[in-house]
Amino acid sequence: MNHGLTKHPSHSTTHSSAPQKLMVELANRSYPIYIGSDLLANPLIFADVPSASQAVIVSNQTVATWYLSALHGILKEKYPTVIPIVIPDGEEYKNLTVFEQVISQLLEHTCDRKTVLFALGGGVVGDLTGFVAACYMRGVPYIQIPTSLLAQVDSSVGGKTAINHTKGKNMVGAFYQPAMVVCDLKTLLSLPKREYLSGLAEVVKYGAIMDMRFFSWLEAHIEPILNMRMPELAFIVERSCRIKAQIVAMDETENHIRAWLNFGHTVAHAIEVGLGYGQWLHGEAVACGMVVETYIAQSLGLVTEHFVERLKHLLQAFDLPTSLPQLPAEDYLSIMRLDKKSIAGNIQFALVDGQGKASVVSVKDQDIYALLQTLLRA
Ligand code: NAD
Ligand code: GLY
Repeated sequence: MNHGLTKHPSHSTTHSSAPQKLMVELANRSYPIYIGSDLLANPLIFADVPSASQAVIVSNQTVATWYLSALHGILKEKYPTVIPIVIPDGEEYKNLTVFEQVISQLLEHTCDRKTVLFALGGGVVGDLTGFVAACYMRGVPYIQIPTSLLAQVDSSVGGKTAINHTKGKNMVGAFYQPAMVVCDLKTLLSLPKREYLSGLAEVVKYGAIMDMRFFSWLEAHIEPILNMRMPELAFIVERSCRIKAQIVAMDETENHIRAWLNFGHTVAHAIEVGLGYGQWLHGEAVACGMVVETYIAQSLGLVTEHFVERLKHLLQAFDLPTSLPQLPAEDYLSIMRLDKKSIAGNIQFALVDGQGKASVVSVKDQDIYALLQTLLRA
């Protein structure tokens, strides 16, 4: 991994007016990630979208109010017909019912195999639209236009698409890469503060699993990050996308290093399912999950207490939760056993070493149970 890329944003080009272009290198399925301000007002960014007679913008009620007309305006210049499909807002709608409703609308509009889908929104819209694109007529092109921080730094890149089942997060899905990702930093300015902070959890994750210099940089720039200062914002989106693009290029379908991206997520998914979707935001659950999983790593002698404290301190500075919500330890265990990452009932964790690397470890149920009991009592 090239650690030399982490430098202060004053030396970075990302926050200049020119958009940054990164590539996800996947041979003939490679695609660009554009990062910059006001990209939804820049028709040049959309010059290379696939041709078709129809484009469909999938968005949700909230994001559509802010950005649908801007994107519609740009796409009208490229496509004879532009169809908006607006779904309800919330993690609880990333489900089979809404998936089917979107497919039905595509059929009602006689969308063909060339139709291009544009996912305009956060990770929920992106994951659902990507999965629709993977399935509709066995696959149509789609473009990610992430508007939440979490979606810009993580979910829009890498082609993991999915919907939830009541028994587990992202249980039905496909690896299906977008044709392009467009991160307009300006859209983040309308994001509710809690959502912004939630996205920062995934940013911290990249530092912990891959780049301790980036982790230290985050520790040193808490105030400007909290104030959404544009140079710092541009840098964290660029750095996160760069790390994710490198990991995805090395291991698209998660056979080795991509599993590091699951740091915090085994516990996070149990929190989200255990509390009910939408109670805790995904990034909040990831923040707490990273702390719990680092305690597990500490109990296995993989990481020092000093690093656990650094991680907690940084997450708390971003106002993210670091204590487990009160659910019975048995519930956590049974949900984690059902997680996609479990193999033959053995619960797996991506655990960090405190030095910018991770490894996937299978941990015994009784050890997890004992630690959960201790943390829940604390
Ligand atoms: P989200 O899509 O629910 O968006 C968060 C909230 O912010 C929503 O209410 C949304 O309407 C609102 N919003 C989004 N952009 C806005 C804007 N610019 N202005 C105002 N409001 C805006 O949640 P999220 O945090 O973006 O994504 C979480 C989802 O992503 C989860 O389902 C998670 O499982 C998934 N995810 C997927 C991957 C992946 O690799 N595919 C990775 C991480 C997370
Ligand atoms: N968000 C985890 C991954 O994309 O692999």
